Amino acid sequence: MADDVVKKTNSNLMVYFVAIIAAVGGLLFGYDTGVISGALLLIKQQWVISSFTQGCIVSSVLVGAVIGSLGSGKLTDLYGRRTIILSTAVIFFVGSIASAFSPTPIALMLFRVLIGIAIGVASYAVPLYISEISPDNCRGALVSLNQLAITIGILSSYFIDVYFAGFDSGWRHMFFVGIIPSLILLVGMLVLPDTPRWLVSKGQNEKALKILRKFNSSDSDNILHAIKESVQVKDNGAWTEILAPWIRPALVVGIGLMFFQQFTGINTVIYYAPTIFQMAGFESASAAISATVSVGVINVLMTIVSICLIDRLGRKKLLYIGLSGMALSLSFLAIVFYGLNGVFVKWAVVVSLLLYVSSFAISLGPIAWLVISEIYPIKIRGFAMSIATVSNWAFNMLVALSFLPMLEFLGKSFTFFTFAFMCLLGLVFCYKFVPETKGKSLEEIENGWLRKNKV
Ligand code: BGC
Repeated sequence: MADDVVKKTNSNLMVYFVAIIAAVGGLLFGYDTGVISGALLLIKQQWVISSFTQGCIVSSVLVGAVIGSLGSGKLTDLYGRRTIILSTAVIFFVGSIASAFSPTPIALMLFRVLIGIAIGVASYAVPLYISEISPDNCRGALVSLNQLAITIGILSSYFIDVYFAGFDSGWRHMFFVGIIPSLILLVGMLVLPDTPRWLVSKGQNEKALKILRKFNSSDSDNILHAIKESVQVKDNGAWTEILAPWIRPALVVGIGLMFFQQFTGINTVIYYAPTIFQMAGFESASAAISATVSVGVINVLMTIVSICLIDRLGRKKLLYIGLSGMALSLSFLAIVFYGLNGVFVKWAVVVSLLLYVSSFAISLGPIAWLVISEIYPIKIRGFAMSIATVSNWAFNMLVALSFLPMLEFLGKSFTFFTFAFMCLLGLVFCYKFVPETKGKSLEEIENGWLRKNKV
């Protein structure tokens, strides 16, 4: 009995350790998307560049992320999750150094595309890896460590930006710092194994069993058996397979969740928070930046709350709570911008944005990435996740590019009402289409689609 408890504790600790190392990929995702806001202020002081060129430097990461997630899905299924994450670590490392030493704006754009490629791949390969290595009862929390790492990455980029803001060519230092997490990811992934599920899909059952025994204190033989069965279900792993009628609903869930994750406006806050705070009356840059840091902090803290709840309450309940909170806080923000005046406005904006980000952080933030790592059949999991991920980055780019024009044409109030309305549509979508995956094994989830569509 006592032996069992010790064994269970050890395997739990080990699996947390593995998940934390892999989640450094998420940290790089957050850091490299966040760092540009501060870096840009210095870049445009050093190089005289048009606002178009600035826009290209900012969005080059998003372009890279689309390319990366589009091009790599089949590779994660062919060469394994670990090898692909290792390759992203190398790209992050090279890309960070190259961006830091960029001789011209064009070179910087190209190197930022390179980093974007690594972000695009890591954004789904890391949750995929963690999901496939985790025991069912804590998979939600473990996969969401990736989202926690993203939020920590974003927050630390704000601090690093502030720290290097006064340095000569400080933006070069800001990019260079990215080599530290890249190295941790590289060394860490060199010692970690691939996932038992991918190993079984390549016929390496013995190796898979060893890993299962390490990370799941009991039941490893049954799990292996279930994985072997699900590997046999379908075998071509290509477009015909991914468009098969029983998989289509899962594709809709993945793309739909990514649509709502982005079209409910999170990155208008993450990327433009200082602008929104200035519109609300925090005139000095430093006041706007401090308010922005509070957004970053609440994002981290509420992701921790989500991690504690996700395997107990389940994914759907958290989605309902989070989306309702997002709809309410955005509506409040819209009302504040519509008719209110005075000192009150500033604080009302701060409160509603904090409530909005908190609601996102307990729900759509972690859960969109978690659910896409759970709902696809093993044979096409990497490929299908990469499709959902491409759509995430494409939607992200659309919202980021249209936000400022939207503010101009619709005005502040209607812009935020539109996002509030999207949250309500998101609620309906989750209610109707998203399955509850809490506590189920990946193989049970796969069988669920098969049964529903009577294959
Ligand atoms: C989203 C990002 C967003 C981040 C904020 C992630 O889940 O995919 O677009 O910037 O959360 O925490």
